[in-house]
Formats: sequence, C-alpha cells, structure tokens
Amino acid sequence: MHEVTLIPGDGIGPSIAESTRAVIEASGAKIEWEVHQAGMAGIDQFKDPLPKETLDSIARNKVALKGPLTTPVGMGFRSVNVALRKEFDLYINLRPAKSMEGVKSVFRDVDLVVFRENTEEFYSGIEHYIDSKRSAAETIGVVTRAGSDRIVRAAFDYAREHGRRKVTIVHKANIMKYTSGLFLDVGREVAKEFLDIQCDDRIIDNMAMQLVTHPQQFDIIVTTNLFGDILSDLCSGLVGGLGLAPGANIGYDAAIFEAVHGSAPDIAGKDLANPSAMILAGAMMLDHLHESRAAKLVRDSISAVLKEGKKLTRDLSPERSVGTKEFTQNVLATMELMSRN
Ligand SMILES: NC(=O)c1ccc[n+]([C@@H]2O[C@H](COP(=O)([O-])OP(=O)(O)OC[C@H]3O[C@@H](n4cnc5c(N)ncnc54)[C@H](O)[C@@H]3O)[C@@H](O)[C@H]2O)c1
Repeated sequence: MHEVTLIPGDGIGPSIAESTRAVIEASGAKIEWEVHQAGMAGIDQFKDPLPKETLDSIARNKVALKGPLTTPVGMGFRSVNVALRKEFDLYINLRPAKSMEGVKSVFRDVDLVVFRENTEEFYSGIEHYIDSKRSAAETIGVVTRAGSDRIVRAAFDYAREHGRRKVTIVHKANIMKYTSGLFLDVGREVAKEFLDIQCDDRIIDNMAMQLVTHPQQFDIIVTTNLFGDILSDLCSGLVGGLGLAPGANIGYDAAIFEAVHGSAPDIAGKDLANPSAMILAGAMMLDHLHESRAAKLVRDSISAVLKEGKKLTRDLSPERSVGTKEFTQNVLATMELMSRN
C-alpha cells in the first residue's frame, strides 16, 4: 500500500483530480490517499494557501499528486507551486512531450523530455520595487554552480537510464554572461562525464524557433527555470496542447506530480476539462512508486481512447466532444477491457 498526498487544487482541479483518482484506483495499484488543500481552497478552509497539514502530509508520504492551483497575478499570495518546490527542494521539473496517435497536431513524431531547473533564478522570489513610487522594480535571478550541476546531471542520468541519445543545453549566455554563462559552463563540464550521450547547446531564442519548425532534432532539453517554464508549454503545444502534458517535480526526499497546465478558470465547473494530463501525471507517479504495470495500463488506456477518437474533450475535438465525466468513464471502461485481455 502506498500512502500518497492528494491535493485537488482549484479551478478545474477538483474535477480532474476526481477523474485521476478513479483511474489510478482502477489501475490495480494500492493507494491510500490523504486529501489536503492548498491555494484558494487552503485559504477558504484554513486562511492559509499552504496549510501546515498539507506540508506535513507531503513530508510524511514523500509523494503527492497535485491539481492546479491559481496564483493571483501581481499582488496577493505568492505562487504555492513555487513555494512547494522550494519547501521540498524539488529541483527537477520533468516534462515529457510525446506525439500521440489520434491527436491532431502539426507534428506526428515528437518525443522530447524537458528538464527545467525548478528552484533558482527568476523564481527565487527575490524581487522588490526600488522606491515607494514604484518607479522601477528588480527581480534578482540567482544561478548557482551546485544548482546547475544537479539539474544537468539529472538530465544526463535520465538520458542514460532511458536509452536517449542527446541532451541539449538551452541558455542565453551571449547576453546573460554570468547567470546563463555559468549554467552553460557547468552543463558542458557535466557532459564530459557522459561521453556516451551526445551534447549540444542552443540560445533560447533560436531554440524556440527550431522547436516550432523542426522539433524532431531534439531529445532531452535541459535549461534554467524561466526558459524551462516557457519551453515546456511550447513543447506541450507541439503534441496536442496542455490537456495532454504531464509533469513531475522531483527532489532527493519528495516528489510532486501534476499537469503542466493551470487551473483554467475559463472552463472551471463546466465539465469541459481534459483530465488526461493529470491522469498521465498519475502514471508518472505510479512509475516513481515502481508500479510499472499499473502505469502502463493507465498510459495504454489513454492512448487507446485518444486513438479511437470518438469520445474526446472539447480541447481535442471542438466539433463533437464529451465532458470530463464521460471521457473518464470511457477511460475506465477501456482499462477494464484491457486488464481482462
Ligand atoms: N502547476 C500549477 O498549478 C499551475 C500551472 C500553470 C498555471 N497555473 C495557474 O493557473 C491559473 C490560470 O492560468 P492560465 O489561464 O495562464 O493557464 P491554464 O493552463 O490554466 O489555461 C490556459 C488555456 O488552456 C486551457 N486548458 C488548460 N488546461 C486544460 C485542460 N485540462 N483541458 C482543457 N483545456 C485546458 C484553458 O482553458 C485556457 O484556455 C493562473 O492562476 C496560473 O498561475 C497553475
């Protein structure tokens, strides 16, 4: 039995978390869920966006599955997602982007994994107005040798473990000669220890252009926090959009699995959300828990439903679509059939 902290989140979170929970439970893995709140739901219940109960539960279980959490733009509380990553030192943000049969997208043969540094640089929260008139503002991006080393090393280790051929280091060292320059230097040093894996590098602007014109040339991408945030959304767009993109935040002592997308307030409460990204994040969690058979069943069922293409959510099939609940029922029925065969 695995004890897992489940944070449903807000916006579309509770609805896709319910779907994910049902699918994971049907996968055969034995999970005992501890449901806890964060973000808006944390404020509603405990007047705290990151209640102590939630933190204690993650610290105890070391594994969490999380729905999206809204972060107010500008003023208001700081991102709970960023706070969780810092609290548990979840330095790896791992986001696979793989073309799936049946999903309409510009490319059919993309198979990328983005490794985003998750704790440093412009997301460190070191920012302020320089005076009371707010005449200027500063955000300080700190990049450390140790922080760069561990994320690049994680990307190369993953490449070796998963039989991948190449790691591309993405940077802006031509302009940000110190922060991005340090990241690139460390990346090249680490690459010398992995001579069986090819290594190259790209400047971020060129990378964005090459990704949307010829993404097949890339395999594993490793980059700093802000570039990684943007590139991983871009990569999810290459394979059919945010509704299909899972992610993992991994540290030495804990891991939090979630969809790449946010709380989608525009469609919240309307039974329109695609739960696949969170379900696929659940499959990544099952792999992490060494429940690889259950993980495979979940992935195969989602693939089969997408390939069949008859009952898809609106983001994937705008003309003829089903709601979150019906989509989930279809995934569950497919799992049932697959596990019998
Ligand atoms: N990890 C997280 O919890 C996380 C990640 C990103 C954004 N956010 C937060 O989410 C809030 C909304 O952010 P946003 O609107 O920029 O991005 P978003 O990802 O919530 O939505 C972007 C667009 O994609 C659509 N979309 C997203 N997920 C979908 C799904 N599963 N099915 C169908 N359509 C989907 C939305 O309807 C919207 O049109 C913000 O407060 C932001 O800070 C949270």
